[in-house]
Amino acid sequence: MQQAQNIISFSTNQQLAEAATAEILRYAQQMIARSGKFKLVLAGGSTPNLIYQLLSQSQADWQNWWIFWGDERCLPVDDGERNSLMAKQAWLEKVAIPAAQVFPMPTEKGAAIAAADYQAIVAKYSPFDIVLLGMGEDGHTASLFPGHQHNVSELVHAVYNSPKPPSDRVSLSAKVLSEAREVLFLISGAGKQQAFKQWQQGADLPVAQIRPANGVKIYADNAALGLV
Ligand code: 6PG
Repeated sequence: MQQAQNIISFSTNQQLAEAATAEILRYAQQMIARSGKFKLVLAGGSTPNLIYQLLSQSQADWQNWWIFWGDERCLPVDDGERNSLMAKQAWLEKVAIPAAQVFPMPTEKGAAIAAADYQAIVAKYSPFDIVLLGMGEDGHTASLFPGHQHNVSELVHAVYNSPKPPSDRVSLSAKVLSEAREVLFLISGAGKQQAFKQWQQGADLPVAQIRPANGVKIYADNAALGLV
């Protein structure tokens, strides 16, 4: 299946974050009205931090939100480089989402055990409503890196030798990410220009392997699009 794309450009990262926050809140309201819950997969890295801060200042039906992660670094739970800690400090500990509905990847147990544990959670709760994803300067997304081979029957991968520290991680598979109702890429900064261009020219990068039925939404600022 080809990857259908809807690219939306923004002058600044602030405007990108405001639009992404509005889209997430709108979709949450829609899914809660339809099914009583909203299942959101969070992206790691630094780009989503402003979105998480804006969500912490928003009004929503938090008791019906269910939070998952697309990937996590194998670090202690209180390590500042953990994707889960970044989201908790920016947002999750400031709103009333029930703790029983927040599912960090237990990567403090090591990649193999954490991936096996999370496989059961993904099997129970996927498909997800929205998956947020970043893109690295090499075209990776979540912790799916160029040149890495994975067992396509897995829902969750243990990742070793990551080129982006730390070397050990856990990642949802391209298959699970592609089963989401909506995939929203968040791409900001001039450092992403080269990878974005290669992606658009058809390079078989990990970002290109996420192919949901409804296509992907790409929120990118002008710096990433090379328009500044
Ligand atoms: C991680 C992320 C990773 C990230 C991209 C973009 O754990 O590092 O999951 O996939 O989304 O590397 O990172 P930035 O948003 O910091 O550029």
